Amino acid sequence: MSLIQEIHKRKTFGIIAHPDAGKTTLTEKMLLFGGAIKTAGAVKSNKIDTATKSDWMEIEKQRGISVATSVMGFEYKGMKINLLDTPGHQDFAEDTYRTLTAVDSVIMVIDCVKGVEIQTEKLMEVCRMRNTPVICFINKLDREGRDPYELLDEVENKLNISVRPLSWPISMGKSFKGVYNLYDKQLNLFSPSQRKVSDDRITIEDLSDPRLDNYIGTTLSNQLRDDVELIEGVYPEFEVSEYLQGKVAPVFFGSAVNNFGIQEMLDTFIKIAPTPKTRSTDQREVNPEESQFSGFIFKIHANMDPKHRNRIAFLRVCSGKFERNKPYNHVRGTKALRFSNVTSFMAQDKEIVDEAFPGDIVGLYDTGNLKIGDTLTEGENLHFKGIPSFSPEIFREVVNKDAMKTKQLEKGLQQLMEEGVAQLFTFEIGSRKVVGTVGQLQFEVIQFRLKNEYNATVDFVPMNLYKACWIYSKDRKKLDEFIRSKQRHIAKDKDGKWVFMAESKAWLQMVQDNFPDISFHFTSEY
Ligand code: G4P
Repeated sequence: MSLIQEIHKRKTFGIIAHPDAGKTTLTEKMLLFGGAIKTAGAVKSNKIDTATKSDWMEIEKQRGISVATSVMGFEYKGMKINLLDTPGHQDFAEDTYRTLTAVDSVIMVIDCVKGVEIQTEKLMEVCRMRNTPVICFINKLDREGRDPYELLDEVENKLNISVRPLSWPISMGKSFKGVYNLYDKQLNLFSPSQRKVSDDRITIEDLSDPRLDNYIGTTLSNQLRDDVELIEGVYPEFEVSEYLQGKVAPVFFGSAVNNFGIQEMLDTFIKIAPTPKTRSTDQREVNPEESQFSGFIFKIHANMDPKHRNRIAFLRVCSGKFERNKPYNHVRGTKALRFSNVTSFMAQDKEIVDEAFPGDIVGLYDTGNLKIGDTLTEGENLHFKGIPSFSPEIFREVVNKDAMKTKQLEKGLQQLMEEGVAQLFTFEIGSRKVVGTVGQLQFEVIQFRLKNEYNATVDFVPMNLYKACWIYSKDRKKLDEFIRSKQRHIAKDKDGKWVFMAESKAWLQMVQDNFPDISFHFTSEY
């Protein structure tokens, strides 16, 4: 198969949701459709297996969250689909943000009882920053949920994106009868089943067809006729191009646990979702069809076994063909790197692969050369953009409790930061080290892993900080002046970039007013 054919059969997407909306369940059912797993329950049980491997993973289990972003590939109707799962828990939001840089589109799961929840809003902001196309799946229709019109309005208002329902529910909860597909004019009748792998669909082109009354009764048929008329009147025709630009989100209704409505969504997904597209670098745009390989690292996962200090770096292939054992240019580093242990992820199995194509995600075993955001190429020195760090929300100073283990602590901190567990800022004065995170849980993870993997003991002392702002000025002199005058509040991030540590919103505003030549940014890429 040619490179172009390989690219055109690939769809790489991320699945996002507020915890408990049904992301894991939906993922699992998609894998069932793809034939990648045989039984329901496989995806969840995988989580629990890994959780027993170490106490740190035990934390994860107890809190019922998935720390790791897993990658799963499967084939569906001739397409190669790469699904990237994201931790829904807000403490791992940064991991999710980075994962979203490696996908070409997103499926968002919303609970019909709870509607749009806070985490979904935050994740949607990241999608909007990058104009990522979004498909919305409204889940748990077997429960008494909110009115579908109200849900759609909420999606539009809270997520700031236009919606277009492509299916419509016929009642909900106990009286839920199924959905009518507005796109291919088919009626899909609901029969609760967790094992079924195909939906039974009835084609009803014309809603005045009396068969409709036979299937769902006269009252619901009339209601459906009214609803469809209203929807067709209110919402403009669905345009794939608007979806691809991230302007309109098509909406499907279903019940993941009952395997209902998923195949419809998947069938539409493979028709409309984007294949790998051109990506920006600091030098130029890179087209996936270029013959020379390029890609970037968006996630690093530590080996949970402390005896083996190796890590898996997740590479997104952006152009050309990636080959095992071939030396590649490590753009940030000085020497070429070759990888003999390259894995692809098919459902819960990992397998060694010899080659990968644009859109694919492969795991590279690494002993510490790679960092999040690194670019690998076949020679050219370019750097993929779009993996920014976001200002953390919680800041704590690192206190070394065992002076004999200073070296271990330094190394451990550096490696954990390279994995993206948290961000480290080092103050200019006194070299005080401050760890910033988006959630409380990471401090526990860091403390535990420093002890377990590096034998270093630390305490974290809370600091009263509002935001870390990356600072910039066109005028180098002005920037130096600012750094000098605010020295006590200046730190460097892990890449040596200047950061202003603001103590409060009001104070930041005042400083911004006083130094109009300095720009302040809440993300490291601006
Ligand atoms: P998450 O990954 O987004 O956090 O959600 P997950 O799939 O784990 O689902 C959260 C809960 O919602 C699970 O129940 C799951 O069974 C349930 N669920 C998912 N889809 C549907 C649906 O369509 N209808 C209904 N009624 N429930 C659904 P749980 O009790 O937490 O776990 P379990 O013991 O059932 O596995």
